[in-house]
Amino acid sequence: MDTATTSKAEIGSPIQDVDKSWDDEHQQLLQTLPEEQEWVSGSSLHLYQGFWYLPLVLKHVISCQRHFQASDSDVIIATPPKCGTTWLKALTFSTLYRNQFTRDENPLLTFNPHRLLPSLEYGVYLNKPCPDLDNICVYKPRLFATHVPYASLPTSIKDSDCKIVYMCRNPMDMFISFWHFRDMLRVESKELLSLHKAFDKFCHGIYAHGPFFEHVLGYWKASQENPNKVLFLKYEDLKEDISCQLMHLAMFLGVPFTEDEKKGGVVEEIANICSFEKLKELEVNKNGSSQSNGIPYKVFFRKGKVGDWSNCVTPSMVERLEKLIQEKLNNSGLTFKLSCKTSKP
Ligand code: A3P
Repeated sequence: MDTATTSKAEIGSPIQDVDKSWDDEHQQLLQTLPEEQEWVSGSSLHLYQGFWYLPLVLKHVISCQRHFQASDSDVIIATPPKCGTTWLKALTFSTLYRNQFTRDENPLLTFNPHRLLPSLEYGVYLNKPCPDLDNICVYKPRLFATHVPYASLPTSIKDSDCKIVYMCRNPMDMFISFWHFRDMLRVESKELLSLHKAFDKFCHGIYAHGPFFEHVLGYWKASQENPNKVLFLKYEDLKEDISCQLMHLAMFLGVPFTEDEKKGGVVEEIANICSFEKLKELEVNKNGSSQSNGIPYKVFFRKGKVGDWSNCVTPSMVERLEKLIQEKLNNSGLTFKLSCKTSKP
């Protein structure tokens, strides 16, 4: 053990004092916020600025709101959870930095997308109220990710010229993906709500980073008002025509594919390396895990399909969600298709 460190810790450094008072402030704040039981027993969610958060994640969100300074060249990947964040990270990383490494040296081949492109509230601000952002981002321009809703983004992200790429997914696939994800991550001694009970919570917006519709609408409106700043993508559209969506993404990021690149198959190469099938089979994604929280990377690659929900839900669940979609998205211009038919009675 490093005795010098131990004695410093005993005395208490100014940084630790700051951490301590921030811990206390956070604990006090939690007590004032509405609280709900999360989907896994023993876990709670707190409502902050209209959205639900796990207590520790909320702490990082607030640190980020207070301290994050965006620069005009930054790119922020924003998503609700389980809407293809991993995929979008891989695509954006490979597109934006494509001239900084050769195809065979793409860091995606050896590092998981979450390692390469840190999340603000799950990585960058994890236990560090004021991290050194430039050191965290090896490649430039800087790329960050977040699940934070548009209204709660740090002011500097909204006020600067940095760009935001948002991706969402039809809510039924998102819900099913999230339920399985919670199941894969829970320790055996903790119980997960049944699919029906979790669905009821989902419809009430109660899950980490919910409610879904308010999340998508915040970014949808921002993208309508300022299309040069916020690009709004849907998982299903990428599944349907990845080349077209990649070209769109590159154009938005200010790094359009040249004619030579298009003829040389660079777009298809990026689509390929980022595909579900390719990423899922990489050693790092099969057997690796996150250094910061220990999550095995394989949980981010489940089925990677559109319409998997049709194998899991009942017609009454579909009916309820369809009504909700209509009610919440009414007149917004945003649509989601639940096109597959359910196979359950
Ligand atoms: P399923 O659970 O429906 O399979 P996130 O990355 O936001 O956590 O989202 C995870 C979802 O995206 C999972 O959906 C996962 O399988 C899918 N996914 C991960 N990588 C993908 C890729 N390269 N292409 C398409 N889907 C991918």
